[in-house]
Amino acid sequence: MTGINTTAPLYRDATSTVAARVSDLLSRMTVEEKVGQMMQLDAREDLPEQVLRQHVGSILHASPERLAIAHELVAQTRLQIPLIVGEDCIHGHSFFEGSTIFPTQLGMAASWDPDLLERVARVTAQEVAATGVHWTFSPVLCIARDLRWGRINETFGEDPFLIGELASAMVRGYQGDGPRDDTAILATAKHFAGYSETQGGRDASEADISRRKLRSWFLPPFERVAKEGCRTFMLGYQTTDGVPITVNEWLLNDVLRGEWGYTGTLITDWDNVGRMVWEQQVQPDYAHAAAAAVKAGNDMVMATSGFFHGALEAIERGLLVESDLDSAVSRILHLKFEFGLFENPRHPDASRIDTIVGSAPHQTLNLEVARRSLVLLRNDGTLPLFPVTDADADVATVALTDATPRRVAVVGPLADDAQTQLGDWAGSSGQADWLPNGHPRGMITTTLDGLRNASPANWTIEYAEGADILTLDEDPAGAFFPDGQPRPQLVVPCPPDDEKIAAAVAAARQSDIAVVVVGDRIELVGEGRSTATLELIGGQNALIDAIAETGTPFVLVLLASKPLVLPPSADRAAALLWAANPGMEGGRAIAEVLLGIVEPSGRLPISFARHAGQQPTYYNQIRGQHGNRYADLTQSPAYAFGEGLSYTTVQYDNLRVLGDEYGLDGTVRAEVSVTNTGTRPTREVVQVYIRDQVTSVSWADKELKAYRLVDLRPGESQVVSIELDVADCTLVDADATRRVEPGTFQLLVGPSSRDDVLLTAPFSVSAAAPEPVTGP
Ligand code: NOJ
Repeated sequence: MTGINTTAPLYRDATSTVAARVSDLLSRMTVEEKVGQMMQLDAREDLPEQVLRQHVGSILHASPERLAIAHELVAQTRLQIPLIVGEDCIHGHSFFEGSTIFPTQLGMAASWDPDLLERVARVTAQEVAATGVHWTFSPVLCIARDLRWGRINETFGEDPFLIGELASAMVRGYQGDGPRDDTAILATAKHFAGYSETQGGRDASEADISRRKLRSWFLPPFERVAKEGCRTFMLGYQTTDGVPITVNEWLLNDVLRGEWGYTGTLITDWDNVGRMVWEQQVQPDYAHAAAAAVKAGNDMVMATSGFFHGALEAIERGLLVESDLDSAVSRILHLKFEFGLFENPRHPDASRIDTIVGSAPHQTLNLEVARRSLVLLRNDGTLPLFPVTDADADVATVALTDATPRRVAVVGPLADDAQTQLGDWAGSSGQADWLPNGHPRGMITTTLDGLRNASPANWTIEYAEGADILTLDEDPAGAFFPDGQPRPQLVVPCPPDDEKIAAAVAAARQSDIAVVVVGDRIELVGEGRSTATLELIGGQNALIDAIAETGTPFVLVLLASKPLVLPPSADRAAALLWAANPGMEGGRAIAEVLLGIVEPSGRLPISFARHAGQQPTYYNQIRGQHGNRYADLTQSPAYAFGEGLSYTTVQYDNLRVLGDEYGLDGTVRAEVSVTNTGTRPTREVVQVYIRDQVTSVSWADKELKAYRLVDLRPGESQVVSIELDVADCTLVDADATRRVEPGTFQLLVGPSSRDDVLLTAPFSVSAAAPEPVTGP
């Protein structure tokens, strides 16, 4: 006997219950260790200070090198509580060199395909988990409202139902078979809730939004993923009714934890606690801000290093007692134990990284997603560039062997800009500093690469950049915000460059067709980078004008993070294809669709405006305004939610609701015939909306409630069955209660949200005493 107690503490005993381990560890922690456990800090900063002195529970934005240092430091701590490592793996493992970068969330949403998105999230989780990251801050459930907002690209678009479908799929994919699955990572539903209800698109402005409006549109997708077991929720930045979300007791406690019974972990957004002091100025100091954030039920505080001293001071001054920290700390420890981090801290695994990250099967999936993310918005028949008449022929083979020689001019500043094509949250997009040159160029196919690779050998492809987009200037307010974060630089649009335009015009003139690739750049996209206009920046409009003047037919590829407004000369384009930052395989997918190797199948998850002044343009607006146009412009969007063409035509007929009257617990059953009346195969998105004819409160004229993806061969006809629970035909009444109101409804079925393409059929709902379907 040495006299030293060698018995391992209970919290180290993997055979004990998680609850017992949490309570044992909690009882051993000092108040400083508890405060630190609630903190997630930026690993690019002072790691020894964070880990050894502030006892931080989590880090984010750790390069592989910094991650290794952080783990070494943890090994020197008294309790050796493993770190939980978070990262923004938004459309792939954003900042891990050589990982698979998929189209942005908005791009993927154009597929309308939850199964596909679940596979994307699964593959992403496998790559992320191999690299020692445990937690992704994805998916985004914000509803796109004003297109000028810089973060539109991060959303699934404008419809709460579609958002719920796609977000749930991604959560399932990330979280895999649960915490013990070593390919599972934690998903985050963000940004809770209402952050996207900006003022004029300004990022993180006040969200002037009633509780009824929150319940009507903003909360349903969050409620859905909460019930599906999304393990973490991240707050937005907004204040509502004067209350910062960080201390919004109603949303955090009454609704999320109360009504929805959510038991997961809440994380603030970046420096939310500090912002209450220095930005929103609703707290006098960090002690008060920390106390308020803890009391409101936040578990983890992101990127507020002042929280450490603030929370300790709050305890000293009696604004908090130590036990106020316990539920947050317990929830974080609970996650760590459930994930088995004390037994296996899930450090990077070199051999898994080698075989999994950016692997060939993942790139194949990426190509499939990129193809499905493209939306053909206009086509006068010029596309596909290979009009194959034998529908059963192998299009790729026909194209490669039968083509007559053609010349194609590929022009535009985005035709060959690999990193820009990836969009926000990828490589060099600005949030991480360890990939200044972005992802490996060899993994990315631009439109120019794609056309060079996929066109027949006897075609000539000529490239001209045609225009510059922008340069940057320092913001006179200084290079940094008060919290030390870099302030975005100011965008200075480039003037049209006569020489570049002349070269592009010359290339177009001597070609049979011009493919013009224009759009936005990262400097116009993302957090703090909202735009006042929606127009193409720099010399791009002048380039389109000049190409239109050549008389050579041209196809516009809008490679843009969000819907943009095109100049009048764009109306002369033979076709328009929207590619919302289509990821590493994007250029190949674009080329394949242009050539006709692949059918276009994307549908808009968001409406395109004709002019920034039309904002907002989302389809499900509340009925009841005077008229439907401005004095100087229609209100009708350029392209509406749900729109998208294929290379064939589809006829909708015979919509029939199979009953007349339904009870509150009934299921509306209907059928519609869809026929491929053209010569190419297609994947049709059969969209089902409902219209509640008379409502006790003003309500959206129609809402998407279901949809079906239907594959149709040329000439094929299918009867599509539609089922819709009456319980889903709800509105939110004047008391903010979601309920079904008996009465007459219309079922609307068709290829988009536009009234003129929707078939309608009536049904009615009756009940003596309608029951609310969710609580108040
Ligand atoms: C701020 C962003 O709003 C959020 O979406 C992101 O997850 C965090 N920063 C971490 O990078």
